[in-house]
Amino acid sequence: MKNIVIQGLGFVGSAMAVAIASSLDRNGKSLFHVIGVDRKNQLGLERIKSINSGRFPFNTNDDKLTSELKKSIERGNLKATNDTNVYATADIVLVSINCDLVNENGQDKIALSAFINSICEIAKNISENTLVIIESTVPPGTCEKIVYPLFEEMFNKRKLNINKFYLAHSYERVMPGDAYFDSIVNYWRVYAGIDEESADRCEDFLSQIINTTDYPLTRLSNTAASETGKLLENSYRAVNIAFIEEWGRFAEEVGIDLYEVIDAIRMRPTHANIRQPGFGVGGYCLTKDPLFAKISAKDIFQLNGHEFQFSTKAIQVNARMPLVTLNKLKHYFNGTLLGKKILLLGATYRQDVGDTRFSPSEIFVKEAKREGAIISVYDPMIIKWDELNIEIEGQLPDSTGFDAILFAVPHKEFANISFNDWISQKNTLLFDANNVLTKEQISEIKQNNLNYMSIGRG
Ligand SMILES: NC(=O)c1ccc[n+]([C@@H]2O[C@H](COP(=O)([O-])OP(=O)(O)OC[C@H]3O[C@@H](n4cnc5c(N)ncnc54)[C@H](O)[C@@H]3O)[C@@H](O)[C@H]2O)c1
Repeated sequence: MKNIVIQGLGFVGSAMAVAIASSLDRNGKSLFHVIGVDRKNQLGLERIKSINSGRFPFNTNDDKLTSELKKSIERGNLKATNDTNVYATADIVLVSINCDLVNENGQDKIALSAFINSICEIAKNISENTLVIIESTVPPGTCEKIVYPLFEEMFNKRKLNINKFYLAHSYERVMPGDAYFDSIVNYWRVYAGIDEESADRCEDFLSQIINTTDYPLTRLSNTAASETGKLLENSYRAVNIAFIEEWGRFAEEVGIDLYEVIDAIRMRPTHANIRQPGFGVGGYCLTKDPLFAKISAKDIFQLNGHEFQFSTKAIQVNARMPLVTLNKLKHYFNGTLLGKKILLLGATYRQDVGDTRFSPSEIFVKEAKREGAIISVYDPMIIKWDELNIEIEGQLPDSTGFDAILFAVPHKEFANISFNDWISQKNTLLFDANNVLTKEQISEIKQNNLNYMSIGRG
């Protein structure tokens, strides 16, 4: 049985650990022994403890993921630790750590030194014949120009043969949510090796985890291409979302339902993935990845003239989107939010996901509070909003006393709200910022003559 060590037990690494540990051969025997490594800090220790006790470290609705984790812990082929010595036992090391975008003196930078220090922990410990697969989203050129030379240097120091070191990049498309587990196992994957042998070894490993019969792997010519693939995918999506924003505002003002228009356009297969207006874009990836290529061009390839203007603009437009909602609310309340009681429904960056990193709701709450609004929050996916240090109500609060109720995230639970029963005051404004409410709910609101506004509908 091969030993797989995963560095980083976050949203990606934890799910990947379960997916690998649940891979079985034809006789139902585990193919891999998996050890997840996280840091010695509070966050890392909590994630380690959670996995070792058979509990997934993040709130998830995906029963497949939680039950496969339990089975792996019972079988004994998955455990978590903060002991970096375990890298020495690995046949394969998967790197699933964060590589952050940071702002230094007004300049966007990638926190590469933290990333490199983490890679050093692996280079100091692994044995010859180990394959290292980088899954983290990194700037193009990282594997070839930073990671490989680092292993070369360390192998020289340790008197190991660098020709017996294998390196690949294979980016994650994992999607926390209802199909979290399947977004790894039943989904297409891209990979590339630093050389042919590394690519072959990576392919062999991925083929044992992923259902490649239905979801064939794609091999790219080199690791920079694979690193670029991830960034281009996410930049494409971020630009597509930003592009719609001005159309939404136009539709509202001239009395068009842009969702209806977009549904009509989506009938064309060539336009099926056109995005729709909304509250904003959040999460760890779409808020940073579109800036990585620009930084790589300058800092890794020392090239001028690659400004990536579309991607940069998309980041700016998307970050401002929650403020469009805020300004509409302010306008409705005659130019001020001072003393207005607002119930925000949804704090996470995405529906039915327990991840609040860089959520549009965070931008909204910070600004609304600055404007003097009094904000209450309910989100069925979290009990505490760490970034804002807010305890979350355990259930949908009574609607009485709120001047406005803002629907920000289309969590499934919100589709069950009955406005006939829940709304007690006719003057409370119901603001749907993210196409959260169903057609039935909207007609219920209209039948009851309640105050209703939305983003993207005139
Ligand atoms: N979250 C997603 O849906 C998603 C999807 C695709 C790709 N990605 C990419 O995957 C990578 C990981 O993302 P994430 O959301 O899992 O991040 P995360 O912040 O949730 O997890 C990273 C984990 O790595 C740990 N870590 C950092 N340095 C370490 C070290 N030296 N040793 C051991 N553990 C260490 C951190 O403590 C943390 O638990 C990022 O590059 C991200 O851009 C994320």
